[in-house]
Amino acid sequence: MKNLILTLSLLFTATSFANPELKKQMQAMGTELKVISTSLQKGEINENTEASAQNLSLAILAASSELPDLIADQTVEENADLKLKYTALMFKLYGHSFDLQYALRKEDLPSAQKALTTLTDLRKEGHQFFKPPTN
Ligand code: HEM
Repeated sequence: MKNLILTLSLLFTATSFANPELKKQMQAMGTELKVISTSLQKGEINENTEASAQNLSLAILAASSELPDLIADQTVEENADLKLKYTALMFKLYGHSFDLQYALRKEDLPSAQKALTTLTDLRKEGHQFFKPPTN
Protein backbone atom coordinates (compact mmCIF):
# COMPACT_ATOMS: atom_id res chain seq x y z
CA MET A 1 0.00 0.00 0.00
CA LYS A 2 2.84 2.37 0.99
CA ASN A 3 4.58 1.57 -2.31
CA LEU A 4 1.41 2.24 -4.26
CA ILE A 5 0.99 5.66 -2.66
CA LEU A 6 4.65 6.45 -3.33
CA THR A 7 4.37 5.36 -6.97
CA LEU A 8 1.17 7.37 -7.47
CA SER A 9 2.64 10.53 -5.94
CA LEU A 10 5.81 10.20 -8.05
CA LEU A 11 3.63 9.75 -11.12
CA PHE A 12 1.60 12.81 -10.18
CA THR A 13 4.76 14.88 -9.63
CA ALA A 14 6.20 13.78 -12.97
CA THR A 15 3.09 14.64 -14.94
CA SER A 16 2.00 17.78 -13.10
CA PHE A 17 5.33 19.57 -13.68
CA ALA A 18 5.75 18.57 -17.33
CA ASN A 19 7.16 21.34 -19.47
CA PRO A 20 4.78 21.58 -22.46
CA GLU A 21 7.15 23.66 -24.61
CA LEU A 22 10.02 21.19 -24.15
CA LYS A 23 7.67 18.32 -24.93
CA LYS A 24 6.51 20.08 -28.11
CA GLN A 25 10.08 20.71 -29.31
CA MET A 26 11.15 17.15 -28.46
CA GLN A 27 8.19 15.82 -30.45
CA ALA A 28 9.24 17.97 -33.41
CA MET A 29 12.81 16.65 -33.09
CA GLY A 30 11.47 13.09 -33.12
CA THR A 31 9.38 13.72 -36.23
CA GLU A 32 12.24 15.31 -38.18
CA LEU A 33 14.72 12.64 -37.13
CA LYS A 34 12.34 9.96 -38.42
CA VAL A 35 12.05 11.65 -41.82
CA ILE A 36 15.84 11.91 -42.10
CA SER A 37 16.44 8.35 -40.96
CA THR A 38 13.89 6.93 -43.44
CA SER A 39 15.40 8.96 -46.23
CA LEU A 40 18.92 7.72 -45.42
CA GLN A 41 17.76 4.12 -45.19
CA LYS A 42 16.33 4.41 -48.69
CA GLY A 43 19.48 6.21 -49.87
CA GLU A 44 17.27 9.06 -51.12
CA ILE A 45 18.40 12.53 -50.09
CA ASN A 46 16.22 15.32 -51.39
CA GLU A 47 15.03 18.83 -50.48
CA ASN A 48 12.67 17.41 -47.87
CA THR A 49 15.53 15.68 -46.11
CA GLU A 50 17.52 18.91 -45.97
CA ALA A 51 14.47 20.86 -44.78
CA SER A 52 13.97 18.29 -42.01
CA ALA A 53 17.57 18.64 -40.90
CA GLN A 54 17.13 22.42 -40.74
CA ASN A 55 13.93 22.03 -38.74
CA LEU A 56 15.72 19.58 -36.46
CA SER A 57 18.41 22.19 -35.68
CA LEU A 58 15.72 24.83 -34.99
CA ALA A 59 13.82 22.53 -32.64
CA ILE A 60 17.05 21.63 -30.80
CA LEU A 61 17.84 25.32 -30.37
CA ALA A 62 14.35 25.99 -29.00
CA ALA A 63 14.58 22.97 -26.66
CA SER A 64 17.98 24.08 -25.37
CA SER A 65 16.49 27.19 -23.79
CA GLU A 66 13.88 25.11 -21.93
CA LEU A 67 14.49 23.13 -18.75
CA PRO A 68 13.39 19.58 -18.00
CA ASP A 69 11.25 18.89 -14.90
CA LEU A 70 14.09 17.12 -13.16
CA ILE A 71 15.96 20.42 -12.95
CA ALA A 72 13.01 22.34 -11.54
CA ASP A 73 12.80 19.84 -8.65
CA GLN A 74 16.41 20.15 -7.39
CA THR A 75 18.24 22.23 -4.77
CA VAL A 76 20.10 25.37 -5.91
CA GLU A 77 23.52 23.63 -6.07
CA GLU A 78 22.21 20.55 -7.84
CA ASN A 79 20.30 22.83 -10.16
CA ALA A 80 23.42 24.64 -11.38
CA ASP A 81 25.19 21.35 -12.22
CA LEU A 82 22.15 19.86 -13.93
CA LYS A 83 21.51 22.98 -16.00
CA LEU A 84 25.09 22.88 -17.23
CA LYS A 85 24.84 19.19 -18.05
CA TYR A 86 21.56 19.71 -19.91
CA THR A 87 22.95 22.70 -21.81
CA ALA A 88 26.16 20.84 -22.73
CA LEU A 89 24.20 17.91 -24.16
CA MET A 90 21.80 20.12 -26.10
CA PHE A 91 24.61 22.26 -27.56
CA LYS A 92 26.49 19.11 -28.59
CA LEU A 93 23.29 17.91 -30.25
CA TYR A 94 22.94 21.26 -32.01
CA GLY A 95 26.50 21.07 -33.36
CA HIS A 96 26.03 17.55 -34.70
CA SER A 97 22.75 18.55 -36.33
CA PHE A 98 24.82 21.01 -38.40
CA ASP A 99 27.25 18.22 -39.32
CA LEU A 100 24.19 16.36 -40.55
CA GLN A 101 22.95 19.35 -42.58
CA TYR A 102 26.37 19.76 -44.15
CA ALA A 103 26.69 16.07 -45.03
CA LEU A 104 23.21 16.12 -46.61
CA ARG A 105 24.05 19.18 -48.65
CA LYS A 106 27.19 17.42 -49.92
CA GLU A 107 25.14 14.26 -50.54
CA ASP A 108 27.71 12.44 -48.43
CA LEU A 109 25.65 9.50 -47.15
CA PRO A 110 28.31 7.89 -44.90
CA SER A 111 28.95 11.21 -43.09
CA ALA A 112 25.21 11.84 -42.80
CA GLN A 113 24.74 8.36 -41.32
CA LYS A 114 27.59 8.98 -38.88
CA ALA A 115 26.06 12.28 -37.73
CA LEU A 116 22.66 10.58 -37.35
CA THR A 117 24.19 7.85 -35.16
CA THR A 118 25.83 10.50 -32.97
CA LEU A 119 22.47 12.27 -32.61
CA THR A 120 20.71 9.08 -31.56
CA ASP A 121 23.53 8.25 -29.09
CA LEU A 122 23.12 11.72 -27.54
CA ARG A 123 19.35 11.21 -27.43
CA LYS A 124 19.90 8.00 -25.49
CA GLU A 125 22.26 9.71 -23.04
CA GLY A 126 19.94 12.71 -22.58
CA HIS A 127 16.85 10.58 -22.10
CA GLN A 128 18.53 8.22 -19.62
CA PHE A 129 19.45 11.17 -17.49
CA PHE A 130 16.68 13.74 -17.96
CA LYS A 131 13.52 12.20 -19.37
CA PRO A 132 10.96 11.24 -16.74
CA PRO A 133 10.08 7.51 -17.02
CA THR A 134 6.37 8.29 -17.46
CA ASN A 135 6.86 10.56 -20.49
C1 HEM B 1 17.84 14.12 -31.64
C2 HEM B 1 17.76 13.80 -30.35
C3 HEM B 1 16.48 13.71 -29.57
C4 HEM B 1 15.22 13.39 -30.01
C5 HEM B 1 14.80 13.01 -31.43
C6 HEM B 1 14.33 13.46 -28.87
C7 HEM B 1 12.98 13.15 -28.91
C8 HEM B 1 12.14 13.15 -27.81
C9 HEM B 1 10.76 12.70 -27.82
C10 HEM B 1 10.01 12.15 -29.05
C11 HEM B 1 10.27 12.87 -26.56
C12 HEM B 1 8.86 12.50 -26.06
C13 HEM B 1 7.95 13.71 -26.15
C14 HEM B 1 6.52 13.31 -25.69
O1 HEM B 1 6.34 13.11 -24.48
O2 HEM B 1 5.65 13.19 -26.54
C15 HEM B 1 11.33 13.43 -25.74
C16 HEM B 1 11.21 13.80 -24.43
C17 HEM B 1 12.23 14.33 -23.68
N1 HEM B 1 13.54 14.51 -24.06
FE1 HEM B 1 14.30 14.21 -25.91
N2 HEM B 1 15.05 13.85 -27.78
C18 HEM B 1 16.36 14.00 -28.14
C19 HEM B 1 17.43 14.37 -27.34
C20 HEM B 1 17.32 14.73 -26.02
C21 HEM B 1 18.42 15.19 -25.19
C22 HEM B 1 19.90 15.30 -25.65
C23 HEM B 1 17.90 15.48 -23.96
C24 HEM B 1 18.56 16.01 -22.73
C25 HEM B 1 19.71 16.67 -22.73
C26 HEM B 1 16.47 15.21 -24.02
C27 HEM B 1 15.59 15.40 -22.98
C28 HEM B 1 14.24 15.07 -23.01
C29 HEM B 1 13.32 15.30 -21.90
C30 HEM B 1 13.67 15.92 -20.56
C31 HEM B 1 12.07 14.84 -22.33
C32 HEM B 1 10.75 14.90 -21.53
C33 HEM B 1 10.07 16.21 -21.93
C34 HEM B 1 8.74 16.44 -21.20
O3 HEM B 1 7.72 15.84 -21.62
O4 HEM B 1 8.72 17.22 -20.24
N3 HEM B 1 16.15 14.76 -25.28
N4 HEM B 1 12.45 13.59 -26.53
